[in-house]
Amino acid sequence: MKICFLALFVLFFQLELLAIQPVKAVQNPADLLSVTYYLNTCPEAEGIIQQKGGFWMQKDPTLAASLIRLHFHDAIIRGSDASILLDYKGSERTAAASSTLRGFEVIDDIKAALEKQCPRTVSCADILTAVARDATVAAGGPFWEVPFGRKDGSISKAAEAEKEVPQGHENVTALIELFQVRGLELLDLVVLSGVHTIGRCNCSTVQDRLYNYKGSRKPDPSLNPFYLTMLRRRCRRSTDLAYLDVTTPRTFDSVYYTNLQRKVGLLSTDQQLYSDQRTSPFVDILATQPFLFESQFVVSMIKLGNLQVLTGKHGQVRVNCNRVNGR
Ligand code: HEM
Ligand SMILES: *[C@@H]1O[C@H](CO)[C@@H](O)[C@H](O)[C@H]1NC(C)=O
Ligand SMILES: *[C@@H]1O[C@H](CO)[C@@H](O)[C@H](O)[C@H]1NC(C)=O
Repeated sequence: MKICFLALFVLFFQLELLAIQPVKAVQNPADLLSVTYYLNTCPEAEGIIQQKGGFWMQKDPTLAASLIRLHFHDAIIRGSDASILLDYKGSERTAAASSTLRGFEVIDDIKAALEKQCPRTVSCADILTAVARDATVAAGGPFWEVPFGRKDGSISKAAEAEKEVPQGHENVTALIELFQVRGLELLDLVVLSGVHTIGRCNCSTVQDRLYNYKGSRKPDPSLNPFYLTMLRRRCRRSTDLAYLDVTTPRTFDSVYYTNLQRKVGLLSTDQQLYSDQRTSPFVDILATQPFLFESQFVVSMIKLGNLQVLTGKHGQVRVNCNRVNGR
C-alpha cells in the first residue's frame, strides 16, 4: 500500500515536471539562449567579432560608445532583434530619433567576415549584442559572457522609434514606465543610464537647458553654474558635441553618478535621476560603490540583450544586416 502511494506520488511529480518545463520554455525565449550556441556551428564567431570590432574601435575610440548605444536602440524597440539595422524607407534607422546613431559600418564589416567563415549562421542581433559587450570592455568596463542564439526580426518601423526611444527630454516617470513595461526595473534604469559615463551628445539636445528651460527663458536651475558657463562655451553652435561625462569622458567608471551629485549631468534625463526621490537612492549608492556599478551593469546589460528575443523558427539569420532575406 505504502509503496503504491509512493509510486503514485513519484508519477505525479514526474508528470508535473513534464507539464511545467515546456510551458516555462515557451514563456521566456531568452532561456533558449546559450553562451555555447555557436560552439559547433561557428566556433570562430566571437573571435571574429572581437577582432574586427576591436580594429574599428582602435582606429576610432569614439565608436565604442556609439556601438553600445546602437544595441540599446535596437533592444528597446521590439527587443534585441537587429531591427535598428534594417535600412529602408520607414525603418527605425531612418527615424529622427535615430539620426545621431553611428557604427552601422562596423556591424556590416563584421557580418561580411562572418558570412565568409560560416554562411547564414550568426545573426545580426547576436553580433550587435556581442559588439556592445566588447565596446564596454574597450572603454574600460567589465567583461561578461554573452548568451547567443537570437534570430533577426523582419519588422522595423520608424514610428515606433519616434514614439519610444528616449531623447533626453523625458521625465523620470516616463523613463521608469519605458523600462518597466519591458521588465527592466528602477535599478536597471539607473545602472544602464550609467553608461553615459562615456560618449557624446549633440549640443542641440541640451540647448534648452542652457538658455530656455521649459519656456522660462532661463537656464535649467538644476545645472551647476560653473558647468553652465562651460557648456555655453562648449555648445556655441547646435551642431557641436559635448561629453556626457564632463569629468572622465572616455573612461567607463562610476564618476557619472558623482557628476549627478555635483549637478554636472549633461542630459536633463540624467540629472533628474538625482532629483527624483525614486531614483536618487540608487545614484547615491552607485556613486560610492564602483564595484557594485560594474557587477550590476553586467546583470542589466544581459537583461537588455535578452529582451523579447526571437529564437528558433521565430526569426531568421539575415545574410545582410540591412535587409530582410529575399527582400
Ligand atoms: C534612460 C534613458 C536614456 C536617455 C534619455 C538617453 C538619451 C541619450 C541622448 C540624448 C544621447 C546623445 C545623443 C546625441 O544627441 O548625440 C545619448 C547618448 C548615448 N547613450 Fe543614451 N539614453 C538613455 C539610455 C541609454 C542606455 C540604456 C544606454 C545603453 C545601455 C545608452 C547609451 C548611450 C551611449 C553609449 C551614448 C553615447 C553615444 C555616442 O557617443 O555616440 N543610453 N543617450
Ligand atoms: C511625464 O511625461 C508623461 C509622458 O510624456 C506625461 O504624460 C506626464 O504628464 C509627465 N509627468 C509629469 C509629472 O510631468
Ligand atoms: C546635431 O543637431 C543639429 C541640429 O538638429 C543637426 O543639424 C546636426 O546634424 C546634428 N549633428 C550630428 C552629429 O548628428
